[in-house]
Amino acid sequence: TRPKTVFSGIQPTGIPHLGNYLGALANWVKLQNGASPDDRLLYSIVGWHALTLPQDPKALRAARWEMLASLLATGLDPRRSIIFHQDHNPNHTELAWILNCLCPIGKLKRMTTWKAKLAASRNANDESEVDESLLNAGLFTYPVLQAADILAYRATHVPVGEDQQQHLELARDIADSFNRAFPKPKKIFPLPQHMIPPSKRILSLRDPSSKMSKSSPDVQSRILLTDEFAQIQAKFRSAVTDSQLGVTFDPVNRPGVSNIVTILATCTDKSSEMVAELYTSKGHAQLKMDTAEAVESLLRQPREEFKRLKSETGYLEEIAKEGARRAREISEGTMTLVRSQIGL
Ligand code: ADP
Ligand code: NA
Repeated sequence: TRPKTVFSGIQPTGIPHLGNYLGALANWVKLQNGASPDDRLLYSIVGWHALTLPQDPKALRAARWEMLASLLATGLDPRRSIIFHQDHNPNHTELAWILNCLCPIGKLKRMTTWKAKLAASRNANDESEVDESLLNAGLFTYPVLQAADILAYRATHVPVGEDQQQHLELARDIADSFNRAFPKPKKIFPLPQHMIPPSKRILSLRDPSSKMSKSSPDVQSRILLTDEFAQIQAKFRSAVTDSQLGVTFDPVNRPGVSNIVTILATCTDKSSEMVAELYTSKGHAQLKMDTAEAVESLLRQPREEFKRLKSETGYLEEIAKEGARRAREISEGTMTLVRSQIGL
């Protein structure tokens, strides 16, 4: 088999939550630990993406280091993975500009993330009126920056949650457009493959119609990497389920219960159907408390490791510096080809 180049990113917008962990980070570590020596793994803290929404500079600065500590705490090893801050490698923005100039705006208008932002900025009284002052250009074009993040390393595999599927398709599309527009002397970009983890989408514990997210104002809706066991238990206790007795796995009609089943299943390496089977005649409370325990046994070690690492600022800075150096070395190779093929 050909060596893989794996790329993925996470925004420094807060401590990672259980959705990030099960949907992305745990898989990054698994990929790392199963990688062959020729494979390349790049994991990036994507600060430029965070700027699409207003950020407090002090909080952003802290979150960037907390995220690096989180990635190391979950088991990423700088000897095997290149771990770096996106904003330490200007190749991303250079390539993003070039790709922006190849990407029809119609494609960006079809992104569901953009449509959601557009909908949110519509006038409540007159739907046809959009308050454009609420929409910055970065919000419109960040999927192209995401494509550049991936393509700068000519990544072949992208392990991200199901929520990122459309963006990854755009990245493949843009790679293909570039290859067709500038095929000589060689097609530069492989089409990156999506690797969706089995847990797919972890939902908000309070509103199971939306995904668990760093940005929800309801802090009870997400379990954080830093939560102690008592907090994990309290959050599961207050998780929204339904009034139907017993446990089944039925994501459409019973999203709350099914989400907890999925969490327990993912934590214990079982299928959701199998867990639902085991809990058929048990109550929601039992399911919630067992899930809290399973989550605790998964997160305990990373939590303790995070506490130890977060104050090791010298060490973190060293890791970030070395990661950026290695990342730039690879992306500079891509950019030399890109510049030459487009005539710069
Ligand atoms: P958030 O959406 O919480 O701000 P990011 O956008 O930084 O998180 O996403 C980081 C990674 O976590 C991505 O791979 C994304 O697909 C994954 N992810 C985010 N939320 C969830 C979720 N609720 N369930 C599964 N995966 C998720
Ligand atoms: Na996201």
